[in-house]
Amino acid sequence: MSVAGKRVLLVIGGGIAAYKSLELIREISRRGGAVRCILTKAGAEFVTPLSVGSLSGDTVYSDLFSLTDEAAMGHIELSRSADLVVVAPATADLMAKMAQGLANDLATTALLATDKRILIAPAMNVRMWEHPATRRNLATLRTDGVSVVGPDEGEMACGEFGFGRMAEPKSIADAIDALLAPGPALLALGNNTATRQGIASVGPLAGKSVLVTSGPTLEPIDPVRFLSNRSSGKQGHALAASAAQLGASVTLVSGPVALPDPPGVTTIHVETAQEMLAAVETALPADLAIFCAAVADWRVAGESSQKLKKSAAAPPTLSLVQNPDILATIAGLKAGRPQLVVGFAAETENVIEYARGKLRRKGCDLIIANDVGSGTGVMGGDENAVHIVSPGSVVSLPRLPKTEIADRLIRLFTDRLVKGPSA
Ligand SMILES: Cc1cc2nc3c(=O)[nH]c(=O)nc-3n(C[C@H](O)[C@H](O)[C@H](O)COP(=O)(O)O)c2cc1C
Repeated sequence: MSVAGKRVLLVIGGGIAAYKSLELIREISRRGGAVRCILTKAGAEFVTPLSVGSLSGDTVYSDLFSLTDEAAMGHIELSRSADLVVVAPATADLMAKMAQGLANDLATTALLATDKRILIAPAMNVRMWEHPATRRNLATLRTDGVSVVGPDEGEMACGEFGFGRMAEPKSIADAIDALLAPGPALLALGNNTATRQGIASVGPLAGKSVLVTSGPTLEPIDPVRFLSNRSSGKQGHALAASAAQLGASVTLVSGPVALPDPPGVTTIHVETAQEMLAAVETALPADLAIFCAAVADWRVAGESSQKLKKSAAAPPTLSLVQNPDILATIAGLKAGRPQLVVGFAAETENVIEYARGKLRRKGCDLIIANDVGSGTGVMGGDENAVHIVSPGSVVSLPRLPKTEIADRLIRLFTDRLVKGPSA
């Protein structure tokens, strides 16, 4: 076990799931690790310092301004004395404070002061989890290199159903084990040190390679003009980030977008459809390929090497030629076809009917159809509503932040990779 002989600083936040943290302390101890706990003021409303201290066999820290605690172990030392910092349950409030860099109690001060990796196990009501503020905070934390385990889907203490249940103690302990595993447990490929320290190859997609395309392509007319579309890359980038978060080795081939490269993802920047196809072919093999980019169907025949000049005569006529069909090319590979090939269909009418046709024509396994008609705000926006079209069924997801759509889709693709088309 990787946690054996290691020290975990466990921050217990004020959520119903705090009772599961008692079991987490036992599970880490069973695996040979030592646990020291910080209990937030709200956390102490759900579990007592006595039960936490009895199980951890150590002092329970709660107060930033405790003379005795500070004399015995200063808050900075406390934040660095462990090999890993775990927040479970990570409340919406703690996530918000972490994302903002607030330090107004012992837990948040230790989280800001630590030089160790941080793993959070979010737990909250489904509406709190789906709230755009929480989605923003989660995205910020991921960018900062914080690892995330869960939440799970299921029935909640409040009676609602959905995502927000804290991951089970055994799953959290597995993630801790993986993060503390010796050797290069890193996916990190970017230059961001926080990312390199924070994202480890743990999760259900560990050992799998995922290829994602994202953004528009840009097809030159002359050195200064081009044809393109309104794709922002937000959905494709979110898919790449979600897959990396679940432990996959991810290559993102992106057209020109105004987004940062997702942490822990190898990002290849291209402009044209032809460049995108070449980058995709170079990035193979992959277990899962998701073609989310809005590839221009046509490019300009005979791109001018000089800027076209405006003249008194009629404007120039652009003649277009068909671009390569990247989805159909990869879905049709005889050798080296990814196990699961997913295409996206952006339509403005007859969305599902067109998606079914595209599924048949392209030879892919799933089409994710979205309505990008005017008034939907999908192209370039932060939300999406999609239909998952397979040969035998159509499953629709409600309008949600693109990051949440990404998380749900990646979980579904993960199930399909493991269990096959029945999942
Ligand atoms: C009965 C009850 C249950 C709660 N459960 C949760 C929860 O599961 N997740 C959450 O994020 N907040 C929950 N809250 C709200 C938090 O306790 C509150 O935001 C608190 O300020 C969190 O403090 P902390 O993040 O410092 O621990 C709950 C509050 C009450 C009264």
